Amino acid sequence: MSEAARRRPLGVVTRGTTNPNRLRRVDNWIVATCADRLRAAADPLVVDLGYGATPVTAVELRARLAAGVRPDVRLIGLEIDPARVAAAAPAADPPGLTFARGGFELAGLRPVVVRAFNVLRQYDEREVLDAWRTMTAALAPGGVLVEGTCDELGRLGGWLLIDADGPRTLTLAAKLTTLGSPAELAERLPKALIHHNVPGEPVHALIKALDDAWRTAAPYAPFGPRQRWLQAVTSLKNTGWPILNGPTRWRQGELTLPWPRVAPTAP
Ligand SMILES: C[S@@+](CC[C@H](N)C(=O)[O-])C[C@H]1O[C@@H](n2cnc3c(N)ncnc32)[C@H](O)[C@@H]1O
Repeated sequence: MSEAARRRPLGVVTRGTTNPNRLRRVDNWIVATCADRLRAAADPLVVDLGYGATPVTAVELRARLAAGVRPDVRLIGLEIDPARVAAAAPAADPPGLTFARGGFELAGLRPVVVRAFNVLRQYDEREVLDAWRTMTAALAPGGVLVEGTCDELGRLGGWLLIDADGPRTLTLAAKLTTLGSPAELAERLPKALIHHNVPGEPVHALIKALDDAWRTAAPYAPFGPRQRWLQAVTSLKNTGWPILNGPTRWRQGELTLPWPRVAPTAP
């Protein structure tokens, strides 16, 4: 392989759609669940891969981590599109926040946490595994990749926590005050799952069970959607779904499960 090919960022330029505050749900989850890793790191480096047409969500992630985890966190936004790297330059605030060109190989960086949101959604499902492997191979020891998807306003989202051994958990998250039914989350499953939401697949059974539990919890609606969600998640857990974390996270409209419980049955 030539030197030029070796240095070429891995991946392709895709649509750059983004929105302020769109990634607040996953950011809050990262602050809550990746804090220990970042606090223990000698170099608390975080990469936001594929930040899009404007760097607004990278700026927000850096601010949330600096306020909630440690003030010396270093965030590098990587984009495969050089025009978007140039457009982000005025938002840089070194050393805590910088932007550079890079792809799935992570531009030679060794981050503790990578957030790649709404990036793989525009790829073919067959490319997902290689992309995960390339990104996780570049992580610092004990590092993690948070890869997922959300809607334009960040009201519905789904993401995976992935480490060097592969996916560990799936998290679904919704803004409860605008949620009609949990079935809406199916549209925002991570790329590795979205095409598997069909009868016979574990993720389909999960969404159906959550939807049924939400309907059964309708008597809790007068107490607000948060109480109804808590009731639905609790009853899902009581029927044997291995729901992780606890009511503090559930209250945020989240649901996290071990990957083996939702992984597709067929590749
Ligand atoms: C839809 S935008 C997502 C923006 C932001 N992350 C968000 O969720 O709002 C996807 C961005 O990912 C970039 N992208 C796609 N593949 C990439 C790769 N392999 N490495 C770095 N950036 C990539 C595209 O150029 C595009 O700007």
